Amino acid sequence: MRIAFAAPTVKTSGTLVVTVGDEKRLSASAAAVDEATGGAVGRAIAGSRFTGKKGQLLEILAPAGLDSARVLLLGLGKPAELTELDLEKAGGQLVGQLNGVGETAASIAVDALEGTAIPATEMAARIALGARLRSYRFDKYKTKEAADKKLSLANLTFHLKEAKKAQKQFEAIAAVVAGVFLSRDVVSEPANILYPESFVERAAVLEKLGVKITVLGEKEMKKLGMGALLGVGQGSRRESQLLVMEWHGSGKKPAEKKGKGKAKAAAGEAPLCFVGKGVCFDTGGISIKPAGGMEDMKWDMGGAGTVLGLMHALASRKAKVDVVGICGLVENMPDGNAQRPGDVVTSANGQTIEVINTDAEGRLVLCDALWYAQETYRPRMIVDLATLTGAILVSLGKEQAGLFSNDDALSEQLAAAGKAVGEPVWRLPLGEEYDRMIDSDIADMKNVGGRYGGSITAAQFLQRFINEGTPWAHLDIAGVTWSDKDKPTVPKGATAFGVRLLDRLVADQYEK
Ligand code: BES
Ligand code: MN
Ligand code: ZN
Repeated sequence: MRIAFAAPTVKTSGTLVVTVGDEKRLSASAAAVDEATGGAVGRAIAGSRFTGKKGQLLEILAPAGLDSARVLLLGLGKPAELTELDLEKAGGQLVGQLNGVGETAASIAVDALEGTAIPATEMAARIALGARLRSYRFDKYKTKEAADKKLSLANLTFHLKEAKKAQKQFEAIAAVVAGVFLSRDVVSEPANILYPESFVERAAVLEKLGVKITVLGEKEMKKLGMGALLGVGQGSRRESQLLVMEWHGSGKKPAEKKGKGKAKAAAGEAPLCFVGKGVCFDTGGISIKPAGGMEDMKWDMGGAGTVLGLMHALASRKAKVDVVGICGLVENMPDGNAQRPGDVVTSANGQTIEVINTDAEGRLVLCDALWYAQETYRPRMIVDLATLTGAILVSLGKEQAGLFSNDDALSEQLAAAGKAVGEPVWRLPLGEEYDRMIDSDIADMKNVGGRYGGSITAAQFLQRFINEGTPWAHLDIAGVTWSDKDKPTVPKGATAFGVRLLDRLVADQYEK
């Protein structure tokens, strides 16, 4: 879909979109269309439930007096309450609607709206961002799809006075889109195509943006003693990988490398670290999952997908900060060589783990990746993302991600960033009593905590690998990584939840 910005007009073929505020308040362009069509807009509104509330759309087909195939009224609600996010959603909804009816070209007249602080150029840019985010579709494996099933909308043009300025603003905020799409791409891929080594290959596109990439294979990880991560991958024919992506945007001189991890180029200031669970397929291992729905476990690398997309977004917009993204990539398979329930593994920081359930593998992958992040970079803070527990779906459903943290300020910043971009997170507790639930009879800890509080005990497990004084947050994204239905700016499928949230967190808190 091509997005363009041009001078004001109401003379177009295709669909003409005009905005309406709450209580049927027509924008200047909506009033002009009403006039040109002999009052068709007013009559259509009178004959419907459309009042201009946000989220409402009203279609007027082939109105007399205009060349347009249809006029679409887009409700924006109360101007005083209008947010950037509302505008993004309106843009997404618009694209959903136009593709639904098979339209190929649309023009939207964006007028300044009385009562809002958001200028028309920013309104256009936000609507355009939402439109772009909704235009994603993963259809590379559809070889004989009928034309009328494909996305139809090819051109979307924004008409307003300061078109150039709107375009500049759009380009600035749309830098994140390629990262979101990259993330959706890798998460959508099936596990026969996307496995640890092919995930790493996908990351090569970041090198052109100036991201430094280091990959550790099983040999290197074995040297570092990463027995927890390697234990998960040992039943797979695919080699486990640790992918390290460094973005050096602070402009400060690179510092000394630290620790036995010794990544080749350490950042100049203590970097921000983002760590993702990359289980490219999770069968459960010997504690095998039931067959029904197991195909969903191709997206058990959603955390790693988010970290990959985030690094793309930060590098694309040349974020003025040093950031390291780390993905622990494995495949969890049952096999003659797979780890068994009851096995004891030793993590890189020397702690021993009794593997009670081989399906609680994400924490085993993350603990060694978290160790590597701290050992190598002594980061300013760490956020990890993981499709970690089914229990988080029981707690929060598919609307919000679970947030666990040892730092109140970081938690609040994450919650605020999530709210701003429409990727909300909800904090759950950590505590000593929960921590005791993962004590083991024969090792330092076990990898499951019992029937209750499953997302919390998983987070407690991770916290045992966080050094004293390092601000850390864990996002359990098992409920939000995949959507079963179309949402305004997120088509059904891989959501890339977290890319925009963390891009926003970095921009708001660490680039000042
Ligand atoms: N990848 C799953 C969690 C998951 C479930 C993600 C549903 C997305 C949707 C994870 O590895 C897992 O299997 N967790 C177990 C932990 C249990 C064995 C303690 C679970 O949640 O059942
Ligand atoms: Mn599992
Ligand atoms: Zn898993």
